[in-house]
Amino acid sequence: MARIFSGIQPTGIATLGNYLGALRNWVALQEGEDECIYCLVDLHAITVFQDPAELREQTFAMAALLLACGIDPARSILFHQSAVPAHVRLGWIFNCVARMGWLKRMTQFKDKAGKNQEEVSTGLFVYPNLMAADIHAYHATRVPVGDDQLQHLELANDIAEKFNHDYGVAFFPRIEPLVPPETARVMSLRDGTRKMSKSDPSDQSRINMTDDADAIAQKIRRAKTDPEPLPDHIGALASRPEARNLVGIFAAITGESQEAVLARFAGSGFGPFKEKLAEALVAHIVPVGERTRAYLADRTELERILQTGARRAAAIANPITAAAERIVGFLPGAE
Ligand code: AMP
Ligand code: TRP
Repeated sequence: MARIFSGIQPTGIATLGNYLGALRNWVALQEGEDECIYCLVDLHAITVFQDPAELREQTFAMAALLLACGIDPARSILFHQSAVPAHVRLGWIFNCVARMGWLKRMTQFKDKAGKNQEEVSTGLFVYPNLMAADIHAYHATRVPVGDDQLQHLELANDIAEKFNHDYGVAFFPRIEPLVPPETARVMSLRDGTRKMSKSDPSDQSRINMTDDADAIAQKIRRAKTDPEPLPDHIGALASRPEARNLVGIFAAITGESQEAVLARFAGSGFGPFKEKLAEALVAHIVPVGERTRAYLADRTELERILQTGARRAAAIANPITAAAERIVGFLPGAE
């Protein structure tokens, strides 16, 4: 049995990109042999300032959404990161293993910091070290993510390798990313060259998992396309990023291949295609939104689920983190 770990920031509302790139995979993986650990990464969220009341609210909202998508807290461990201090303890050790040059190459940092490198928090810079600690504190080896996180997972492997090498141990295993091939990256509905993101200023750029049927239909109707009809083979989509994105979404949400989707719509304009796409999205997403609101109505139950999850998570992460601390040369603590 292997261990699976993944995380999502409890900021903003999860999008169709989060769902197709990651969350749907999280749910499916529960059916396998592996132990699944899913984390609301609130420590990561505050690398950019978060209003405290909003952070609390959004942590509840993301927990409710994960349950609504089908994460089963009896089978999987679901918890909030700040509840298990092992993440921070191991994260500090990794701050001292990772090299400045490695972090300076992280494209997510460069994107988020932009020209503002002197002004952003130091936490934003060392964020990937904490992400590595999230995974390695559980000796997890399989990590379901969208492809925007691949560079961070390579770094997590580099950190593990350097730790093992510097201390002469074989303590941290290699990790393997699990990226869904068809929807590794869902793109913005307004610009097919940018990823769909919950932090995009335009709400029209994304489908939120809590959008109602009207909002979904309207966003798809207004989604950017091009004047050409749909082609009959995938190769012809290469230079048409918006069309390629919508066909990819269509295939992912209906479970058909992209070829089958094109066979159905080849030669037609986007009108009928978009109508069917909106229908399929509404059928999938609206019930998730409804279940999310139902879970969100019972805060006591959500807190209970997260706290139970945190206790189970700590029972795995504490001994592994304590062992890493002994390897480094720290005297035993209060545990
Ligand atoms: P985040 O929204 O950055 O907390 O990401 C949570 C998870 O969703 C990660 O596994 C990301 O790789 C995945 N993800 C976020 N946006 C997209 C997207 N547009 N397409 C595919 N996966 C995504
Ligand atoms: N950095 C990830 C993101 O922004 C979230 C994350 C934090 C994560 N820790 C993780 C994902 C550990 C996988 C494993 O999407």
